[in-house]
Amino acid sequence: MEETEDEVLVLNTTRGVIRCRHAIYATHTPPGVNLLHFRLIPWRSYVVAVRLKDGVYPAALGYDLEDPYHYYRTHVINGELLLIAGGKDHKTGHEENTEQFFRELEQHVQQYFNIDSVAYSWSSQYYEPVDGLPYIGHLPGSFKNVYVAAGYNGNGMIFGTLAGTILTALIHSGEHLYKKLFDPSRVKPVAGFSKFVEQGADFISSFIKDKLSTESIQSLVELNNDQAKVVKYEGDSYAMYKDNGGRLHAISSTCTHVHCNVVWNNAEKTWDCPCHGSRFNINGKVLNAPAVRDLERVQLSEPGESV
Ligand SMILES: Cc1cc2nc3c(=O)[nH]c(=O)nc-3n(C[C@H](O)[C@H](O)[C@H](O)COP(=O)(O)OP(=O)(O)OC[C@H]3O[C@@H](n4cnc5c(N)ncnc54)[C@H](O)[C@@H]3O)c2cc1C
Ligand code: FES
Repeated sequence: MEETEDEVLVLNTTRGVIRCRHAIYATHTPPGVNLLHFRLIPWRSYVVAVRLKDGVYPAALGYDLEDPYHYYRTHVINGELLLIAGGKDHKTGHEENTEQFFRELEQHVQQYFNIDSVAYSWSSQYYEPVDGLPYIGHLPGSFKNVYVAAGYNGNGMIFGTLAGTILTALIHSGEHLYKKLFDPSRVKPVAGFSKFVEQGADFISSFIKDKLSTESIQSLVELNNDQAKVVKYEGDSYAMYKDNGGRLHAISSTCTHVHCNVVWNNAEKTWDCPCHGSRFNINGKVLNAPAVRDLERVQLSEPGESV
């Protein structure tokens, strides 16, 4: 993003260039490196949609006070009434076997409902602000007319609506009753933050080797099909995944955002970053901001080929 002399914002997007007076990052977490990422904690949450044998679906939304908690409600998908149950939340990248949470969720639901079959299961992410309140207002470190709305936690419906109201008022008059309460600038930068961001920008490009020998990697890591691991090799760290066809996928495990190591998520078959929630597919392609660059892909040599 750039700003012209007469304060017009110029946004370079994949769909073309947009010129505007005001811009809002409503992208769950703002892309790139921003102070807010260090005040937003990414969490994963699990959901199953099930059919019930007896057809007795609850006419209510319910949740318990366990830690981690569970909730249920119903929803009609393609004309079919289903029971949606969710919960089992944990910090992103803090659990290795994410697949187990679906089983646990099903077992939990089975205690109270008579499950016939599981129609859908999925997991997704939300961001918890460190002081409990979302960041709605001017984006710290950006141009005057650039705003952000992030950190709704599990309350996107309420805070999303509130963000719309607050940001509309800020754009029109610069004022709102809750301007200060949700002000993203209530977060102060720590000493050395700017230097840290600068250094982060050029670290990745020189990181990875051109080609790695498949044999050397395989001697370090024994992987079954559909298994993944982070391996250290000659001082570098690689995220390796062997797909169901026995093909190895190797990428740098260093997140392109600000250098944390990604962790395997076996439920979604993604590499997730525990620090600020970036997610990448098995070939390193960015699925979730704040990272805007893919993980470096590592070319593996054919067995017997010299490197
Ligand atoms: C499993 C689960 C259950 C939840 N249940 C509830 C609930 O019952 N009630 C509730 O109130 N909240 C719930 N939440 C929380 C709620 O979903 C979130 O707080 C809310 O969706 C966040 O809204 P958002 O607009 O900030 O981000 P999002 O809803 O993620 O929307 C951001 C949008 O920006 C797009 N985007 C991102 N980057 C770019 C880019 N670079 N260029 C263009 N587009 C981009 C994304 O594709 C997306 O469409 C739940 C969350 C989870 C994970
Ligand atoms: S998301 Fe910030 S270091 Fe990975």
